[in-house]
Amino acid sequence: MAIIAPSLLAADFLELGKACAMLNASEAAWFHLDVMDGVFVPNISFGLPIIEQIKKTTTKEMDVHLMIVQPEKYITAFKQAGATILTVHYEACPHLHSTLQQIKAQGMKAGVALNPHTPIEVLKEIIFDIDVVCIMSVNPGFGGQKFIEHTYEKVTALKQLIKDKKASTLIEIDGGVTMDNAAKLVAAGADVLVAGTTVFKASDPIQMIASLKNC
Ligand code: DX5
Ligand code: ZN
Repeated sequence: MAIIAPSLLAADFLELGKACAMLNASEAAWFHLDVMDGVFVPNISFGLPIIEQIKKTTTKEMDVHLMIVQPEKYITAFKQAGATILTVHYEACPHLHSTLQQIKAQGMKAGVALNPHTPIEVLKEIIFDIDVVCIMSVNPGFGGQKFIEHTYEKVTALKQLIKDKKASTLIEIDGGVTMDNAAKLVAAGADVLVAGTTVFKASDPIQMIASLKNC
């Protein structure tokens, strides 16, 4: 059974309260919140004030995915806004170990996201310090993109690395997750499935979340 983390990026922002109420009534365990700065990725989404409002609606995990440069500057700010899991991009962190320690020192779980071209081997020496690895299965920046098939191989390799190192890191998949690939991803070793378009464009989002969870 997978942990489902619907991405609010695909919600109707004029009805954000309704989207949060729907997720709270669903089997989704995490809220996935995509923060984009227009520098690390070619898009700008939402930031601290929106996350602060969403936090007021829920006691579920607030899984904040920072697609920003210099994320270490904003660790305290996102903690204060309500993040419980804070994910930074490997490609944006020259001092990844230090950044992860700072996230944990604030009482949050620490996540590391990998762009599609980044091999999982780069995490070999640091896997013990990571609570969640987010494997990007699309290029970050936009919802609704096509799933990159090579992701399965990365999941299998990462699962092996975690096993070899006897770590307890969770594997999260982000981008293009649908009912067509969810079961195969879980079979390969995925623990958490992010789904934006698949959940919010479904005729029955609550049912879709249940289906993804039990895929
Ligand atoms: C992409 C974001 C994803 C995105 C997923 O940059 O990190 O979380 O919202 O959206 P879907 O599920 O529509 O691919
Ligand atoms: Zn994301």
